[in-house]
Amino acid sequence: MNIILLGPPGAGKGTQARHLVSVRNMVQLSTGDMLRDAKSSGSKMGRKVSGVMARGDLVTDDIVIELIGEKLSQIEGNGLIFDGFPRTLAQADALGNLLATHGEGLDNVIELRVDDDALVNRITARSSCAKCGEVYNDITKPPPEDGKCVNCGSEELVRRADDNEDSLRQRLMEYYKKTSPIIGYYYAKGLLNQVEGLDPIDAVKDCISKVLDK
Ligand code: AP5
Repeated sequence: MNIILLGPPGAGKGTQARHLVSVRNMVQLSTGDMLRDAKSSGSKMGRKVSGVMARGDLVTDDIVIELIGEKLSQIEGNGLIFDGFPRTLAQADALGNLLATHGEGLDNVIELRVDDDALVNRITARSSCAKCGEVYNDITKPPPEDGKCVNCGSEELVRRADDNEDSLRQRLMEYYKKTSPIIGYYYAKGLLNQVEGLDPIDAVKDCISKVLDK
């Protein structure tokens, strides 16, 4: 089963994707993580996207489509979770074509529905483990008191450069302008399912499970 997790910044895509990886043995493909890896590697592309991401703008379609295309050619079989991709209609078309090239298709698009006010609190309170990517939140999922990641024991918790109110405002603008049209695109294809993303993390996990097991 190949699925897309769709939603604005802070909707919980990464949190839910990590859960699906652990309980269903699926593979998470996060273009945000891939771009941050490119940034930390100091590659030419990483340097190019660094400022764009910090401002909260979208990186160009050709860059992310190439990243996803490369990953798809390295991964065998299905069970993919697209997290943060596609984000434009051009990316959505490209994903359909790439999957078809590998004899695959999309089975489900899950939109996490949240309202903007909740997102500011979520994003500004977020941290994550630098080693394994486990996501924390100062309010709803505080990092352990001993400072060690619950998943891997690393003591290096980091905050993202774009997790501030100014970048978030721009990320939301990009979402409404460029990403939200793909909700209608997948609705028209009969693939869209909507889940209440404002519920507690475990309740959202249950809802997604029900959708996938339908
Ligand atoms: P990306 O890394 O994809 O960021 P994003 O879409 O802005 O989403 P986030 O990772 O911020 O949020 P999330 O939905 O995963 O929430 P999380 O689970 O962490 O993209 C970053 C940038 O890269 C973009 O701005 C762009 O520049 C570029 N980029 C990436 N992909 C691109 C593409 N395809 N095209 C062009 N450019 C691209 O949760 C957030 C917080 O809330 C956490 O603290 C968590 O613990 C908490 N939380 C989660 N769920 C709940 C809940 N149900 N209740 C309470 N708290 C919760």
